[in-house]
Amino acid sequence: MPTMPKNILKEGSNETLTLKHKALLQQQGYVDGAWTGARSGKTFDVLNKATHAKIGAVPDMGAEETRAAIAAAAAAFPAWAAQTGKARGDLLTKLFQALQEHAEDLAHIIVAENGKSLAEAKGEMAYSNSFIEWFAAEAQRSYGHTAQPTLPAVRANVITKQPLGVAGLITPWNFPAAMITRKMGAALAAGCTVVIKAPAETPFSPLAIAYLAEQVGFPKGTINVVTCAKGETEAAVGKEMCENKAVKKLSFTGSTRVGQLLMSQSASTLKKLSFELGGNAPFIVFADADVDKAVEGALACKLRGSGQTCICANRIFVHEDIYAEFSSKFAKKVDALVVGYGMQEGVTHGPLVNQMGVDKVQKHVDDCVKGGAKVLVGGKKGEGFFFEPTVLADLPASCPMDDEETFGPVAALYKFTSEEDVVKQANDVDVGLAGYFYTENVSRAWRVAEALQVGMVGINTAIISQNTVPFGGVGFSGFGREGGRDGIAEYQSDKLMVWGK
Ligand code: SIN
Repeated sequence: MPTMPKNILKEGSNETLTLKHKALLQQQGYVDGAWTGARSGKTFDVLNKATHAKIGAVPDMGAEETRAAIAAAAAAFPAWAAQTGKARGDLLTKLFQALQEHAEDLAHIIVAENGKSLAEAKGEMAYSNSFIEWFAAEAQRSYGHTAQPTLPAVRANVITKQPLGVAGLITPWNFPAAMITRKMGAALAAGCTVVIKAPAETPFSPLAIAYLAEQVGFPKGTINVVTCAKGETEAAVGKEMCENKAVKKLSFTGSTRVGQLLMSQSASTLKKLSFELGGNAPFIVFADADVDKAVEGALACKLRGSGQTCICANRIFVHEDIYAEFSSKFAKKVDALVVGYGMQEGVTHGPLVNQMGVDKVQKHVDDCVKGGAKVLVGGKKGEGFFFEPTVLADLPASCPMDDEETFGPVAALYKFTSEEDVVKQANDVDVGLAGYFYTENVSRAWRVAEALQVGMVGINTAIISQNTVPFGGVGFSGFGREGGRDGIAEYQSDKLMVWGK
């Protein structure tokens, strides 16, 4: 059985977050260059996800404060947009340097508010900062183009790129820093100003990033952060971002259900949208795969962030010829994991982010077991938000993972017999974010990579996220791409200038 924490809630109840640079733990929203509370004076507590000790409290802001943040971003936009790409890039480079300098403290904030292990949190900071570094350089590399005239009276067609205006950024708690920088870096590089709705579970990372941006000299109003509790005020903040005409772009990462709501709320203002929504990633191991490599890949992919990423493997299909070998090697690896408080030495995996997540994972396991699945490892919740890393074998004909993301540390192993069948099964979902497969056969590799209906495919690899590539999905996984060469274009519009003779 994986090692699980004991008495952590009791022993960790006085746990405090100690930072080298204490000012990184900001406990106010950031609007128009000022650190500010909610107009109602209300705040809410944010807990350490492993120990449940209070980390701090932040304002419960609503529509009114969001309107003020949008107005500040709109006022800051003309001057920011008028700067050269190089000037914007230089400031982003300064932010990158500050983020690197404070990466360790920022990783500690992530461990506390998200729960992931310190090694994972440090990995997230490297990933997060790489987006600022990337977009700092991209700021200078935003090209328009020309097109040949087809009308005799036209001398030239010139297409330039223009920043859209205020961008509303709604980000999730699973990558408290990286999901901010992937959006914010692109928006600021393009010349947009931003209003960030910080996730209720993890508001301290966005606030720390805003604090460092302030320190390196971002003009007031270019970056604003609104904090809000789950429920009514959170819904009001999202609605304001959608319905406010001054917001010209909305970028959202989160569930398909919320994406659908935001899309309908944005209809009246016809803003440009990019949505990175849920996934249900297939992970296929063909009979000709390098099994050890596939086992390592499945472990990394399934259990990244304790299974709480949109691109975690959700259905692991293994060919019948290697099923026994794969499942026993994989189960052995999962068995050896050390689950606990991420700041403790040797801990590989942390808790889930909240009780709702734990309950959903337990329900998925229970439903599968009721249907006849075998539990090879784990299967039970622990103290607080902890859940045992779990391996389920011999999945029944119908189980929750078939059409729903587990978003937790449960590896569901399905047996398959033919390539045709497994591709059909892999594609038999509405979402299409990421997919992975292992094979040593090159023809099969091209064939399956083309056939999987997803935005991103890992071929003999299971870690695919990088700053240089487009991240995004198809179908109910949303639209638009983040990062990579085209990430900046999500925050721009093409302006056509037709020059007469
Ligand atoms: C996500 O879970 O939404 C993002 C994962 C990643 O960027 O790798």
